[in-house]
Amino acid sequence: MTARQLQDYPHLTLQPGTLDGQLDFEVIFGRSGPVEIEIGSGKGTFLVSQAGAFEKTNFLGIEWANKVYRYAVDRIGRWGLKNVRLIRTDAADFLAEHVADESVEGFHLYFPDPWPKKRHHKRRFFCSENLEQMLRCLKPGGWINIATDHQDYFEQIQTVTRQAVEGGRAKIIPFIRPVGAGQGEYVGTNYERKYLKEGRPTYTLALQKL
Ligand SMILES: C[S@@+](CC[C@H](N)C(=O)[O-])C[C@H]1O[C@@H](n2cnc3c(N)ncnc32)[C@H](O)[C@@H]1O
Repeated sequence: MTARQLQDYPHLTLQPGTLDGQLDFEVIFGRSGPVEIEIGSGKGTFLVSQAGAFEKTNFLGIEWANKVYRYAVDRIGRWGLKNVRLIRTDAADFLAEHVADESVEGFHLYFPDPWPKKRHHKRRFFCSENLEQMLRCLKPGGWINIATDHQDYFEQIQTVTRQAVEGGRAKIIPFIRPVGAGQGEYVGTNYERKYLKEGRPTYTLALQKL
């Protein structure tokens, strides 16, 4: 069977090479409104359901793997969602270079790559440095929603979060399930569904910037 040709939908995508300094989200989305960023948006399953349900919110998906990025662009284009943009780049660099202070309402981080080998732990996205970056980008009262299947990574996420809480920069809040989460699911993304079938647990955490 031949695979369907994926479409590019250039109006939905940001080209990393053309960006200069901090972005103006009103220009990017062509309107004002709260901005939520998903880091590691994969095939776009979360974005399709959440952006469809919250039409007044602007969603930006960041994904560095070309294959799933292109799949997500094609999918969001076919759904005709006007409140989603996607960029293929490294999320840590993108936040540091292009996202202004206090410009983001919330971050979604679902099943970030766990890099299970100890010598690779430094590649994990959720670390003190990137948490500081996300807190800088968040408006006061903004939040970060996190889910992972990986216990050791979850422990790191809790430790790093605790430092921000003890430093008076954040507090723990209840995790709110996205609309796409079905029965027995916390998030409803592709990876959660895959891991559920394998009987793996999902750990969640949400925090709010003070
Ligand atoms: C395990 S997958 C989870 C995908 C999706 N969130 C889900 O739950 O189905 C992790 C995704 O994050 C992407 N990713 C990992 N680190 C990234 C980074 N620094 N910047 C952008 N994308 C990243 C990977 O390419 C991969 O698609």
